[in-house]
Amino acid sequence: MRVSCGTDIIEIYRIKESIEKLGDAFLNRVFTENEIKYCESKKKQKYQHYAARFAAKEAAFKALSWKIDDKYSICWKDFEVINNKQGRPSLNIVGIKLKDIENIDVSISHCKDYAVANVTVLSK
Ligand SMILES: CC(C)(COP(=O)(O)OP(=O)(O)OC[C@H]1O[C@@H](n2cnc3c(N)ncnc32)[C@H](O)[C@@H]1OP(=O)(O)O)[C@@H](O)C(=O)NCCC(=O)NCCS
Repeated sequence: MRVSCGTDIIEIYRIKESIEKLGDAFLNRVFTENEIKYCESKKKQKYQHYAARFAAKEAAFKALSWKIDDKYSICWKDFEVINNKQGRPSLNIVGIKLKDIENIDVSISHCKDYAVANVTVLSK
């Protein structure tokens, strides 16, 4: 068994600027349909939620980078954050097949200016 973790912090204004400047082209490149639906439901607060998902994807890459070599071309949508009914997030690997992953957990937090995410991976 191996435990690996990744963390990321991001300034929310950077994501807000990208969305305002690039619109759907940015959203559809980085976020899955489910993620967009979730963030858009947050109305005025949506940039915090988008930024948190962006941070979660970066954190997932960091946690998994030792497993990802040049043969993989990773993209943002390979990782997806989904919240359950209680609001608890989980991170799924949807676009690529990585062997021997036993479990992945993600934790997210955001405030007015920053979003942060931590991802922990348990592998064989
Ligand atoms: C759910 C809760 C933890 C969120 O914390 P917060 O400070 O309001 O907000 P944060 O910005 O730090 O975190 C928001 C993120 O928490 C995550 N979250 C929400 N509900 C969650 C849950 N049940 N379990 C784990 N994570 C949860 C989500 O990822 C959310 O972001 P998202 O909607 O973009 O996915 C908080 O509202 C809460 O209920 N706290 C309970 C406090 C308590 O009972 N304390 C006494 C015992 S320690």
